[in-house]
Amino acid sequence: MTRFSRRTLLTGGVGLAGLGVGAAAVGVGQELSEPATAPSTLPFFGDHQSGIVTPMQAHANFIGLDLIDAADHTALQGMLRLWTQDAANLTQGEPGFSDTEPELAGAPARLSIAVGFGPGAFASQVLAAKKPAWCAPLPAFGIDRLQERWGQTDVVVAVACDDPMTLAHAVRMVVAPVRRRMRVRWMQQGFHHRRNLFGQVDGTVQPSDDRHDDLVWDDGAEQAWMADGTSLVLRRIAMNMDTWEALDRRGRELSVGRSLDTGAPLTGTTETDEAVFSATKGGIPVIPESAHIARAHQRSDREQFLRRPYSYDLAPPGVDGDTSDSGLIFAAYQRDPLAQYLPVQQRLADHDALNEWTTPIGSAVYAMLPGARPGSYLGAPLFE
Ligand code: HEM
Repeated sequence: MTRFSRRTLLTGGVGLAGLGVGAAAVGVGQELSEPATAPSTLPFFGDHQSGIVTPMQAHANFIGLDLIDAADHTALQGMLRLWTQDAANLTQGEPGFSDTEPELAGAPARLSIAVGFGPGAFASQVLAAKKPAWCAPLPAFGIDRLQERWGQTDVVVAVACDDPMTLAHAVRMVVAPVRRRMRVRWMQQGFHHRRNLFGQVDGTVQPSDDRHDDLVWDDGAEQAWMADGTSLVLRRIAMNMDTWEALDRRGRELSVGRSLDTGAPLTGTTETDEAVFSATKGGIPVIPESAHIARAHQRSDREQFLRRPYSYDLAPPGVDGDTSDSGLIFAAYQRDPLAQYLPVQQRLADHDALNEWTTPIGSAVYAMLPGARPGSYLGAPLFE
């Protein structure tokens, strides 16, 4: 696993040219979380869906939908055609097909609209044999306090861009036209920043750019139609601000294994320094064995995935004197969640100092479709 270089943070790991984005479209040097000032577009058509290895946009809304008639595969196919048409337009700054507010489409702000299937989307006879074996909810973990309202849905649409108005409009264009065929179960809206709400620099250690093909994109070996798709593990993790703030700064740094100001590992001085888990001082590990990064660090080459965390911060529920409803929408992308994500999640569930202040309350797994070819539609290979 390597760290994002400064240049990677600024321009994205895959090379913008490779994504078909001209330098003028996304300014090199533009910070990931900085709202775009000029209209900018990400490609819609291509091998992969945009919004997965794309440099993170500032705002995102993950929409969890359930099919009203899961046995009707033609209805699903129709919705995919519709979403393709609208997403192809909206991402390029053009109005959607039945757009009542076309003026809101003019500033795409690096809009991406990516569609994924949960296990329920494969319920029809035609699609049953097309479900990847890993496409199922993760096993239950001891730390989980899962709420049904944030649970597995049949479909997810991940909408992201740098402008909250553009985002809201695109979300309307996703849900309104399919309202007779699908129900919205949840929307998980979040914002991205180099730090999370605990003040920690987040998203440092990621698979290196040249490992995306191997670690992120499916090669079609199990399900031919999944070639160039990937999997999404979406966990909603509540963060208890009140108890976290009660901890002193040193304790906060020891719980993760990195310093709060620079994000450097406790064994180093800058964010990109490699953590040295074997280092000791007076016989005591400098990075505690229970620290989040010590527990999460890969123990084999396969245990790597792309982390794209979005923070959420909602009104407190008004019970027990709570002052916040905050946390992370933790999105992890990998070719195979069972081989890559699960062992790390299990290790963190078994023990992680951070568990004292964090609680998983939602969990879902999706097969993110391959990109759509020009002239075709998202998910077309599923119906061939
Ligand atoms: C690293 C925070 C949940 C996997 C980190 C870092 C922070 C952090 C601050 C260090 C900087 C970095 O490399 O990004 C959090 C918080 C969480 C959370 C606040 C929950 C609210 C998770 C979960 C997983 C995970 C659920 C996976 C199951 C990792 C991995 C690393 C990491 C793999 C890199 C470890 C290494 O140094 O090799 N996290 N994290 N984290 N986290 Fe988390």
